[in-house]
Amino acid sequence: MVALSTWCFKAAAFRAVILGAPASGKGTMSARIVEHFKMTHISSGDKLRLHMKSNTELGKAVSNYVLSGKFVPDDIMISMIKKEIESVADQNWLLDGFPRTLIQAEKLQKMHSVNLVLYLDVPVNVILDRVQNRWVHLPSGRVYNVGFNSPKVPGKDDVTGEPLSKRDDDKVEIVKERLERYSNATKPILEFYSNLGLLNTFRGNTTNELWPDVTETLTKFLCS
Ligand SMILES: *[C@@H]1O[C@H](CO)[C@@H](O)[C@H](O)[C@H]1NC(C)=O
Ligand SMILES: *[C@@H]1O[C@H](CO)[C@@H](O)[C@H](O)[C@H]1NC(C)=O
Repeated sequence: MVALSTWCFKAAAFRAVILGAPASGKGTMSARIVEHFKMTHISSGDKLRLHMKSNTELGKAVSNYVLSGKFVPDDIMISMIKKEIESVADQNWLLDGFPRTLIQAEKLQKMHSVNLVLYLDVPVNVILDRVQNRWVHLPSGRVYNVGFNSPKVPGKDDVTGEPLSKRDDDKVEIVKERLERYSNATKPILEFYSNLGLLNTFRGNTTNELWPDVTETLTKFLCS
């Protein structure tokens, strides 16, 4: 395949946002997009973790929210993302994990207008199945997905033979609540971008299933 960047790269043409529920495959999709289309990935989750790890002022300010699974306040998120975007001003970027609220979306649009929004619309049942089939070996962090990378012996870690468990985060009730919270917060964001004519929705169960439509949309956008 011809390297896309050599024949239809437009500097700073692509200022995109990717939206998708927890466990929708948004992280996997983002990684694939930035690799394939040579873009800068701005993941708000990664940036927050980095700040916490380096114990910056911002890291200290957000750690309680992040550790208890709460949304970080809008003003903190907005000023962090503003800095990140300004540090990659002349590059094509894909923003992942931000905006999470309508206020954030509106502020972002005023600061650095987004020109494409990708929404991964994966059915709730598919996400619940995926999460229910996920088992983890807690001491090592090895993750298994029953069905496509099952452990060799059901319920046992391949390397140590120790029992696998569920992460608290993966319990059905918790996941259901998280999905509902996500959906509540995201509805007005989708509406906002839809009214601006920026929203592209991709429906399907898996990243592989969505990929052809996503590449088509991005290729059209970058090359026209
Ligand atoms: C989602 O919104 C509905 C309707 O406003 C509300 O009843 C429900 O509690 C919200 N769910 C969560 C998890 O915030
Ligand atoms: C997607 O998942 C749903 C629910 O599990 C299933 O009914 C449907 O057949 C799946 N679609 C494809 C294309 O695999």
